[in-house]
Formats: sequence, C-alpha cells, structure tokens
Amino acid sequence: MNSIIWSTSTTFFILLLWENIQVRELSYAMISCVSPLALSRLGRASVLRAAKCGMRRVSSQSEASSRSSHTTTQSRTILTEEQRRFLDSALRVNQAGELAATLIYTAQTPPVVKAHPHLRPLMKHMYDQEAGHFKTFNELLAKHRIRPTAMYPVWQAAATILGWTTGVMGREAAMACTEAVETEIGDHYNGQVREMFKWMQDLQEKGEELDPELKVLIDDIKRIRDEELEHLDYAVENDAKEAQPYQPLTDVIRYGCKGAIWISERI
Ligand SMILES: [Fe+2]
Ligand SMILES: [Fe+2]
Repeated sequence: MNSIIWSTSTTFFILLLWENIQVRELSYAMISCVSPLALSRLGRASVLRAAKCGMRRVSSQSEASSRSSHTTTQSRTILTEEQRRFLDSALRVNQAGELAATLIYTAQTPPVVKAHPHLRPLMKHMYDQEAGHFKTFNELLAKHRIRPTAMYPVWQAAATILGWTTGVMGREAAMACTEAVETEIGDHYNGQVREMFKWMQDLQEKGEELDPELKVLIDDIKRIRDEELEHLDYAVENDAKEAQPYQPLTDVIRYGCKGAIWISERI
C-alpha cells in the first residue's frame, strides 16, 4: 500500500515539475519576442523548444500570432554572448551606483541643509534625479532578469557612511564628494555609450539596424550621464575645491568608486 502511495506521489510530483518547466520556458519565449536582451539570454535551440511548447498549449488562433511574433523576433538584433555579458555587468553596476548615489544624498542632506538652508532645493533636485536613475535601472534589471550585485548590502552601508561623513565635514566636503563620484560615474557611463555606439556602427556596416529597445537604452544612459555631469558642475560651483583636505578626500572617494565598479562588474 505504501509503495503504491509512494509511486503515485512521485509520478504526480514529476508531472508537476515538468508542467512548471514547460510554462516557464513558454514565458521566456514570450518575453524574448519583445526583448532582444532576453532573447540573447537563451540559445536559439531553447527559444525554438519553448516556442514549440507554447504552440502545443494554445489555440489555433494564438498559434498563428505566436508564429508571427517569432518571425518578427528573428529580424531583431541578437546580441553575442560577449555583448550580453557586457550589458549584464554594465546594468548591474549602474543600478548599484544609483543606489549608492541616492543613499549618499539621503545621508548628506540633513547636516548640509541644517548649516546651509539655501542648499535645500539643490540637494533635493540632485536626490530626485538620482532616485529617477535608480528607478530606471531597477526596471531594466527586472525586465532583463539581471541579478543585482551580491555586494548590494555592503554598498548600502558604505554609501550611507560616506554621505553622512562628508555631510558632517561640511558643505565643501559634501560637494567634493559629489565632484569625485560624478567624475568616475561620468567616465563609466561614457565608456558604455562608446561601446554601444561601436555595436551600432558594426551593424550599420553590415546593413542592419540596432534594435529600437537598445537605442532607447543608449539614449537613457546618455541622458543620465548628462545629469551626473550637471551634478559635477553644481558641486564645483558650490566650492567643492575648497574642501579640506581636498586632494586626499577626493582621491579616496575616486579610488573607492573605481573599486566598487570593478567588484560590481564581477559579482
Ligand atoms: Fe545618478
Ligand atoms: Fe549624480
């Protein structure tokens, strides 16, 4: 009796697992129809297998639409493994950087604004833009199923400590922190834009076009880079270079940013 119950349960469990795998593959295939990044995440064989699963499950009407979606996908940009890895790590670093930026301003604002109330609108403006950047990269990570950096909690603590320390040191030190961070982040975003422009040029030489979704991503990164460079200008206008001691402080922050980028690209 026990063996009958055991074998029935095992069979039921295997069937349930198989159903789950098929449903998940179908949803991957459906995502891949709208996202070149998601498509590149899967091998062609996997996409075709998932599409077949989908076709078994849907009515004849949705079968037709599934086939036409698949045909559309084939005309889109398919990223190479190397390009996909580049985008994965770039977006992961961007999200971590924007998380840190929001926490730096959150911690800096109370002491800076208490001593210099006229800076409240500027601090709020920069915070609001950082919160917008963070939201953009959170959405991109979720959409393309990219994992956040494993260092997320460490960067949370480090950014809060950095923001609070420079805020307490005074307006000039807080602005020097912004100057140092934005110098590194501006370079970092520029590198990403340059790389994706190369992809565009390579495709144009082959007579192909970059996927519109990737064009939107490049435009987003360019806009965010420009806003970061605006923050750098505000910091310099607000006496970042008067911070004491300016050089060691900005050097430590810049090396810290480089290190955090290097680590977040990898883990
Ligand atoms: Fe930002
Ligand atoms: Fe910024």
